[in-house]
Amino acid sequence: QHAWLRGQQPEATVEYDEKQRHWNVFGYPETVDILADPATFASDVTRLYPDSIPESLKDGDLTLMDGADHRKLRKLTVHAFTPRTVADLEPRITEICGELLDKVAEQERIELVNDLAYSLPVIVIAELLGVPSSDRDMFREWADEMLAAQMEWFDKKDQPQGEQMPLDFTAPISDYFREHANERRKRPRQDLLTRLVEAEVDGERLTDDQVTTFAGLLLTAGHITTTMLLGNTVVCLDAHPEQQARVRADRSMVPTAIEEALRFLSPVAHAIRATTTDVEVAGQRIPADQLVIAWMSAANRDPRQFDRPHAFDVTRDPNPHLGFGRGVHFCLGAPLARLESRIALNALLDRFPALHTDPGDPPVFMEHMSFTGVRRLPLRIR
Ligand code: HEM
Repeated sequence: QHAWLRGQQPEATVEYDEKQRHWNVFGYPETVDILADPATFASDVTRLYPDSIPESLKDGDLTLMDGADHRKLRKLTVHAFTPRTVADLEPRITEICGELLDKVAEQERIELVNDLAYSLPVIVIAELLGVPSSDRDMFREWADEMLAAQMEWFDKKDQPQGEQMPLDFTAPISDYFREHANERRKRPRQDLLTRLVEAEVDGERLTDDQVTTFAGLLLTAGHITTTMLLGNTVVCLDAHPEQQARVRADRSMVPTAIEEALRFLSPVAHAIRATTTDVEVAGQRIPADQLVIAWMSAANRDPRQFDRPHAFDVTRDPNPHLGFGRGVHFCLGAPLARLESRIALNALLDRFPALHTDPGDPPVFMEHMSFTGVRRLPLRIR
């Protein structure tokens, strides 16, 4: 677990990690500056690892794209995720949430991740894309493989042979979406996959690779993060029973409680960038072609930005946290993640008189430097 999550301020705002050979940035204004300057801090970090990734696995992954290519693809997809478009999903999300909670209605205890927090977002994103949500056990395996591959990469990054970026795990995901995309070309449907296949940017259609890579990104980015947010929100409310009681009594606090959980236990801990030129950050010179890790989760505890940064406070407003990033790569799915979390938290509070962890069966957190979230969250609900 990161030191700032235990209430300790990082010693430096910027530091070079000798072993891992990357720069860590922990401060709020510095992280904002990095995210606001994509020309200097590029998202395409594969430029530092030439030939490590086939173009077919990269093109269409917004998180690895910069400049005009990124703008084009983002423009094309952004309308699918505006707060208005997403608001239309509310009845269906409420229904799925109800169905999942009906299954555990008679129980004394639930395991939040399995029973709700994992299933809800994966069903929603699968239905949005138009692929069978009954394939979700397979999606979960893919997500687990992705997380494991990323961890392995970080662990081996200090060794020369460890420079290879791990993208092998994306092959089954690409194959899966390639098959579904081909099917949509023959028989269009009312789903996001069909819209991607038919979409045109500047008179050009997306390539096969772009459609499949982007759909794969949505599937993976679109569920485990929301699972973590919902779990983390409940963990925070459990740790602060008086605040849980306030939110229960006044549901207008649900959205601010969710924003505070995004700040306090940010599911996505950092953004990774590659410097394109020499640059100074907090008085520290960083040369060109260096990997920079901007720790949003530490920036979200920066006392220069937040009063009582290590206090969880459901009434914190305004709350300019960086949990969804900032700038041109700001999370595309933020409106959806917020809506799902709001519906799910309200449903939990409506149905269950208590939401408390059991000291005998405590939450299990993921072991991953990039993500903060529970893997297992047993709760007493009576
Ligand atoms: C980007 C966090 C849910 C799709 C990002 C970024 C963050 C983030 C921090 C910026 C990464 C960067 O700057 O390098 C989260 C969190 C979520 C969540 C905390 C849930 C609580 C979702 C959902 C979807 C989604 C539900 C899709 C349905 C994306 C996409 C990008 C992105 C496509 C890339 C945008 C770009 O590079 O232009 N997310 N996300 N995310 N997110 Fe999310």
